[in-house]
Amino acid sequence: MLNRYIVLLAVCFGAAAWAEDEDSAMLLPTAVNAKWKTECSACHIAYPPMLLPERSWRKLMADLDKHFGVNAGLDDANAKEITGFLVSQSADHAQGRRAQGIARSIAPAATPLRITETAFFKREHNEVRAEVWKRPKIKSAANCGACHTGAEQGDFSEDRVRIPK
Ligand code: HEC
Ligand code: HEC
Repeated sequence: MLNRYIVLLAVCFGAAAWAEDEDSAMLLPTAVNAKWKTECSACHIAYPPMLLPERSWRKLMADLDKHFGVNAGLDDANAKEITGFLVSQSADHAQGRRAQGIARSIAPAATPLRITETAFFKREHNEVRAEVWKRPKIKSAANCGACHTGAEQGDFSEDRVRIPK
């Protein structure tokens, strides 16, 4: 009887821990690479590495001189260090079920360079109407910080979303 009770308790706690992990909208690790933070937040927020798989970050980092119409080129040493950080925290390698879910949701043959084109992003934003993305204070879906007030800290939780009019 007692044993059964313990098993039941363990199942409940397990489920609670799982739910919390699954729901976490804190997408950055507690320790981040300083060069990544500086170099990759010069023109937009430093996007959470967990939102793309390793192959995407490698491809993006290999073509920084032709980066979405701008030159974001870095010297080899910095590029190598930042690539190492991105890969270690990518959807394939970051801890937690959310990262695993993102990794699984991207077809193995696909190497998306935009977070905003992934099925994960589209699903999380399916309530945002097309007109909203084009508002002057937003301009681009890639402008995460326009709506996610905690984006720079990696906090994308629902209670920190404010959509500008
Ligand atoms: C010189 C400016 C500049 C720098 C520096 C820069 N980027 Fe970008 N990045 C851009 C522009 C411009 C876009 C396109 C934004 C848009 O579509 O609204 C972009 C888009 C992106 C996107 C795609 C966003 C989406 O649509 O999901 C990723 C990912 C990205 N950058 C990663 C990086 C990383 C990693 C670094 C650091 C190595 C970096 N960027 C440094 C200018 C820059
Ligand atoms: C037009 C405003 C807007 C922009 C821009 C935007 N988002 Fe969102 N985002 C939302 C809304 C609204 C939700 C849904 C909030 C909810 O109900 O959880 C959401 C949800 C999310 C979630 C799920 C949060 C959770 O509760 O689990 C993630 C992750 C996310 N956004 C990431 C991003 C990233 C990364 C970018 C930039 C590449 C971005 N968003 C750009 C409005 C925006």
